[in-house]
Amino acid sequence: MNTQDIIDTAKALVADDKGLLAMDESNPTCNKRFAALGIPQNEEARRAYREMIVDTPGLGESISGVILFDETILQQKKDGTPFVKALNDAGIIPGIKVDLGAKEMAGHPGEKITEGLDGLRDRLTEYFKMGARFAKWRAVIVIGEGIPSRGCIDANAHALARYASLCQEAGLAPIVEPEVLMDGVHTLEQCCEVTENVLRTVFNQLYLQRVILEGIILKPNMVLPGLSCPEQESVDEIADATVNCLMQAVPAAVPGIAFLSGGQSGELASTRLNAMNVRFKSRMPWALAFSFARAIQQPALEIWQGKEINVPKAQQALYHRTKCNQAARRGEYNTGLEKHIYDNTVYKHHK
Ligand code: 13P
Repeated sequence: MNTQDIIDTAKALVADDKGLLAMDESNPTCNKRFAALGIPQNEEARRAYREMIVDTPGLGESISGVILFDETILQQKKDGTPFVKALNDAGIIPGIKVDLGAKEMAGHPGEKITEGLDGLRDRLTEYFKMGARFAKWRAVIVIGEGIPSRGCIDANAHALARYASLCQEAGLAPIVEPEVLMDGVHTLEQCCEVTENVLRTVFNQLYLQRVILEGIILKPNMVLPGLSCPEQESVDEIADATVNCLMQAVPAAVPGIAFLSGGQSGELASTRLNAMNVRFKSRMPWALAFSFARAIQQPALEIWQGKEINVPKAQQALYHRTKCNQAARRGEYNTGLEKHIYDNTVYKHHK
């Protein structure tokens, strides 16, 4: 492995106030989102949808890296251009989701363990040859009655660290994603406590597995009250809780933290990321960025509807969300930007 290349990739993923676009939904997840909108659930529809995303004019202005799925990484545009080439031509680094999903954890009712370590070394070598330069592995932590358990946190953190170590051996920068889910009645304080516990465990395991911290990106959840918690804190309170939690647990050697959106609306995710950068940017040792799937894609998916005629409008909506998130990285986002979505004077690519 060339350590410097991995470090350069990790740094490039959070450079220039850019962030990541996750389009690595597994086939069942992608199909579920299509089904909700009456879009056909087949390989060609998934390919056409991903072509719409990859082909968005100006995507590389605010997106540094795109996370692909196994089915997608070898797919091509209708004109025969491989997606990987289209991304590279747009100045975007291709990445790949390599975990095999979060499954029920034996002996731990209500908890999940992410699978995919067996054979991972060979799969990573293949993905590198296909052009991937970074990878992603997602662990899922649920807050509930008596959970998460120590056993679940430890097992998921261990798997994340084994994955990250294998990635660096293969020349890929690992995105380390321990997601504490938003679902539940838990409070902001409980989410903060669990997130800090999980992150401390993850970084301890990364240390034990000799992972080079300068060559990873952390992809955590924001610290939020549960969706069903009666008390929902303000944007600033959430920004403070999230950054204070990260300050406790994430070493300064890590170049960047890129949040998942976790089911927040696009506007809320941008607003909260913006507040963190407004309040803390000058004091944080790492870049605070985004690696959203739903919070970038959802409006575009709803406009696209599986129809080619809707592609330009859908791309406009996608582009808009990426620019909003880039503004949030700078602490320059405000909801006033949202009303310009179809104002052709705002973005040069849509004149
Ligand atoms: P969301 O932003 O939709 O949570 O997805 C991010 C992701 O990559 C989940 O693994």
